[in-house]
Amino acid sequence: MFERLLWLALAATVVATLLLCWRRWHRPSFWFVVGYPLAAITVRATWRKVALGCGLTKKRQRFWFTTVPGLISSTGTVRVRRRFQRVTVDTKPWMWLPLPTRHGWRVTVHTLEGQVPGDYSAAAERLAHSWGVHAVRVSSPRPGRVVLAVTVRDPLVRIDDLPPSPDLLKVTVGRLETGHPWEIDFRTVPHWLNAGATQSGKSNLANALIVGLAPQPVALVGFDLKGGVEFTPYAPRLSALATSRTECADLLDDLVALMADRMETCRDAGARNIWQLDDHDRPVPVVVLVDELAELYLMADKSEKDEIARTSTALLRVAQLGRAFGIYLFCCGQRIGSDLGPGVTALRAQCSGRVCHRVNDPETATMTLGDLDPAALVSARAIPAETPGVAIVAGQDGQWYRARSFYVSEATAEYAAQRHAYLTPSWAAVTAPRVGDTVRDLHVA
Ligand SMILES: Nc1ncnc2c1ncn2[C@@H]1O[C@H](COP(=O)(O)OP(=O)(O)OP(=O)(O)O)[C@@H](O)[C@H]1O
Ligand SMILES: [Mg+2]
Repeated sequence: MFERLLWLALAATVVATLLLCWRRWHRPSFWFVVGYPLAAITVRATWRKVALGCGLTKKRQRFWFTTVPGLISSTGTVRVRRRFQRVTVDTKPWMWLPLPTRHGWRVTVHTLEGQVPGDYSAAAERLAHSWGVHAVRVSSPRPGRVVLAVTVRDPLVRIDDLPPSPDLLKVTVGRLETGHPWEIDFRTVPHWLNAGATQSGKSNLANALIVGLAPQPVALVGFDLKGGVEFTPYAPRLSALATSRTECADLLDDLVALMADRMETCRDAGARNIWQLDDHDRPVPVVVLVDELAELYLMADKSEKDEIARTSTALLRVAQLGRAFGIYLFCCGQRIGSDLGPGVTALRAQCSGRVCHRVNDPETATMTLGDLDPAALVSARAIPAETPGVAIVAGQDGQWYRARSFYVSEATAEYAAQRHAYLTPSWAAVTAPRVGDTVRDLHVA
């Protein structure tokens, strides 16, 4: 007997060790084969209790065949004198079978009468604690249905390296909480705001963009209001770099002139934007990276007022009209608030791409993410300082996601800038008046 117990204990230890090793060395397959089935069974088996605890049940009158009161789940008083009687029962929302995802599972729930997806969002944290998981996100694909997407562990604690970005103006800069790639696609969302406290990962995201865009046929322009310390190392791949407000103002004048020129080219060709032009006529797209945006708007004394007004108007014009003419903005800053002046508020309205890294105050999150779901603002404030690069991203589908950028060191971005320096069009070539040339050519002919 004792020997048999010993053998059983030994076998259990071996199995447990093997499972632990499997989990350690190949977590995804372990999750699909062992973790997910156990989780699915547990979730289905405990759904009534969990829904009841999280306030997602409704009371209904039902006729129950009662012989043993414990057999029915009721919060009402059950008398066992009659076999059939009307009792109050807690009805749970109908739940489908949970389906596995890379980092957890997803399950569709039918809402009960009177329930809205907001009720499930409000209970998301309670659900996460009841199931012992990292987070529960709620979405509603159609009325009456709610999808609960569960992530078991925070998938953003450790992420891989920056993959290549072969599509023009589209860079995979990180990973979303869902496990999907986090893409910044300037052709879909032309202008972006990237906010966050100091050391939250803003410049890292700009580095990721530089590495992704460097091999592509695009002109990169840097506005580095930190005196040039951030972008100067990437100068070989930058067609133009401005490091002070005066230089920015001049460069913005060039951009506005460039826009007017492209506008004329498109009008002459009967095109609405540069993408409708023939391939050989299409001008090179320009991506403008701005670091420390607030510096463009800060006024030390009144003498700067005119320069600020000039810069602010030009930047706003680029934001308003740039998309059609292949000029895209990526603005980084610690605070992008209305206290900086009306120019910044108008600019914010033009930037539909929003990235909010860790912030210290709720105002910055609100200013960056606008009137997204309040849960997004809470999430932005809850980003821990130990995970720089984690951000809340307003997605192209109108939803918000937690995401983390791939770590891209300054050295990596510098190497990419040097390696692809031969692709850098000179600023003179980018801004050369194409319409003027055509007209001149015609005259010569
Ligand atoms: N995705 C990431 N993964 C790992 N480390 C990161 C990530 N993003 C940033 N970091 C690290 O966090 C630190 C701060 O990043 P970064 O310089 O991008 O912050 P910042 O928001 O630009 O700060 P500042 O406002 O001071 O310029 C850097 O040391 C960087 O290496
Ligand atoms: Mg920075």
